[in-house]
Amino acid sequence: MSILTETILPGVVQITMNRPERKNALDRASYAGLIDAIKAAEADPEIRAMVLTGAAGCFTSGNDIKDFAAATDAGPRVAIDFLGAISTATKPVVAAVEGFAVGIGTTMLLHCDLAYAGKGASFRLPFVTLGLCPEGGSSYLLPLVAGTKRAAELLMLGEAFGPDAAQEAGLVNAVTAEGGALALAIEKARALAALPPQSVALTKSLLKRGHAATVAETIATEGRLFGERLLSDEARAAFVAFLTKR
Ligand code: COA
Repeated sequence: MSILTETILPGVVQITMNRPERKNALDRASYAGLIDAIKAAEADPEIRAMVLTGAAGCFTSGNDIKDFAAATDAGPRVAIDFLGAISTATKPVVAAVEGFAVGIGTTMLLHCDLAYAGKGASFRLPFVTLGLCPEGGSSYLLPLVAGTKRAAELLMLGEAFGPDAAQEAGLVNAVTAEGGALALAIEKARALAALPPQSVALTKSLLKRGHAATVAETIATEGRLFGERLLSDEARAAFVAFLTKR
């Protein structure tokens, strides 16, 4: 199972990305599993908060590059459906990041309500490096939370950055000792689950209200352009370089 779900505490479900042999890269089945897990949590009146994490000390290395390379048209992708599900979830989502958070592994944090990262976490938005363009609403949300200069640095240069820089950029709330992010995320999810659920949901929706329409429009526009870029010579060359690197 590439996505594991477990009710770890009353009211709290843990959703774990689980393809450790691929650094938890998200293939189509993983995205479908994430969507199912979010929808199930949303539909279950007993669940009040979600914790999102990755197995084996790694958050996720992002979209599976084999799937990128296999794209034959610029049509709809299940990744966009996942982004729709996480960006419109009504219940709180708390992320725990250890190890790598690459591409959508970083941009999905923009849709989590709270996020914590271990000291050894490494973030990267290598869209331009791969001949692609930003996704996940990041071209709108990252300048908003990080400022325009920092967003340009992270999205245009595509260099790796550590958890302290991620915190400065507004991607995570706090940095823990290595291996400590999940415990803190669970503690915060437990606290959220103990609060009046309707008030939590109302507060979340009010926090998102001002940007929701633009976020949805940005995810759709980026998704269309990203789909076109997947077929570009620049991207094709980058995928071949990654897949034949050894
Ligand atoms: N898609 C497909 N396979 C991936 C992957 C991805 N996103 N990330 C890692 N893998 C595979 C590697 O090819 C490798 O396979 P192999 O054992 O058959 O050689 C295996 O997972 C382990 O990864 P490896 O690169 O050996 O681990 P590492 O610790 O040296 O580096 C990363 C980890 C995440 C820095 C590196 O794998 C990487 O850069 N991955 C690509 C990230 C990316 O560009 N994602 C898309 C963003 S839009």
